[in-house]
Amino acid sequence: MSNRAAILKSEKVGFEIRDTETGKPGKGEVLVKVHAAAIEPTDAELARYAILYTVMKVKYPTVLGSPIAGIVEALGAGVEKVKVGERVVCGTKIRVHRKAKYGGLQRFTVVDESEIVEARDEVPFTKAVTLASYTPPGALFGATTLNMHRPSIPASPLPDSEQGKKILIWGGSSAMGSISISYAKQAGYTVISTSSRRNFGLLKSLGADHIFDHDDPATVEKVRALFPIDYWHDTLSLFNSLEIIIKILAPEGGTVTKANVLLLDPPGMLGNPTLPEGVTLQMCRFSTHAPENKEWAEWLLSRGGFLEEGIKSGIVKGVPAEVVGGLEKVDEGIAMVNKGVRFIVLCLY
Ligand SMILES: NC(=O)c1ccc[n+]([C@@H]2O[C@H](COP(=O)([O-])OP(=O)(O)OC[C@H]3O[C@@H](n4cnc5c(N)ncnc54)[C@H](OP(=O)(O)O)[C@@H]3O)[C@@H](O)[C@H]2O)c1
Repeated sequence: MSNRAAILKSEKVGFEIRDTETGKPGKGEVLVKVHAAAIEPTDAELARYAILYTVMKVKYPTVLGSPIAGIVEALGAGVEKVKVGERVVCGTKIRVHRKAKYGGLQRFTVVDESEIVEARDEVPFTKAVTLASYTPPGALFGATTLNMHRPSIPASPLPDSEQGKKILIWGGSSAMGSISISYAKQAGYTVISTSSRRNFGLLKSLGADHIFDHDDPATVEKVRALFPIDYWHDTLSLFNSLEIIIKILAPEGGTVTKANVLLLDPPGMLGNPTLPEGVTLQMCRFSTHAPENKEWAEWLLSRGGFLEEGIKSGIVKGVPAEVVGGLEKVDEGIAMVNKGVRFIVLCLY
């Protein structure tokens, strides 16, 4: 069982692909033979900007990458949720534990038992890995984030207090936005979303009810015509996406509509913009292990839970992955993410 990894030796030096030690799973941990590993924008940012190394307190040499999909190779003490040989998909804990053995861009990685979800035979690893992000369900249904009503399979009607409510998901063609649309629709909400025109078909296939071009100035008034909007989520979290959302909430010379806008990056990265009174920004900080998310974790991550069933049934949907090749393509993959390509997956076997 020899391991091989894309190792980031230090700041901004690029990756070295080499043989390395295979991690040992500790108590409650599982060793997975990685078949597909995703590169997320945060990985690309980590590989590019020295400041993030300081913020994230990355320890070198490190291995980035999350989520992963593959086959269970070995179990740590006390693991009961999965068996050796099972097909699974899972987020990695590299940004929490910060040791190389927890990164995804290697042949064998160590993950937490509690976050593993079975990937059924009918779902290719390269697809499962694009759908397993905890960020969209964390953003929408976490107790301290938007706290919307959680979906079920089969779908059930929204409770009376949520009937007829709408969510604006800005950037529905992004990796996070697309998955968010599928969760919000399954829960029973009306979804208003934006993308460039070329992605309207994608948003329709995800189930969005109202689709607008985020580059069209008329979108501001078109979205306002759908007020009241109950939940606001900027999945792009870019300077110009937030600027347009603020125009929707606070038209020049008009009345400000109070709203809390959930972002996926810290407002500091957008220069801490001045906000009209009544508009607040919230960065989506979400931990699958936080005590307030215990019920959420059971709903999403347990055996037969929403994520397992949602991936298997095709209810959890997202943008298709760009599979760029094996570990040796990691620099190319990071460069593509930096250029705005949505979901990059390395295929390790
Ligand atoms: N907090 C977390 O846990 C977490 C996790 C993952 C991601 N994130 C953050 O969430 C944000 C979205 O990540 P993602 O992976 O979902 O995004 P993504 O998939 O890379 O989104 C790319 C899409 O966004 C649209 N877009 C519009 N304006 C853009 C611009 N100026 N530059 C690039 N793309 C633009 C494009 O679609 P159209 O052609 O349709 O406009 C593009 O295809 C990032 O800021 C990332 O750092 C946070």
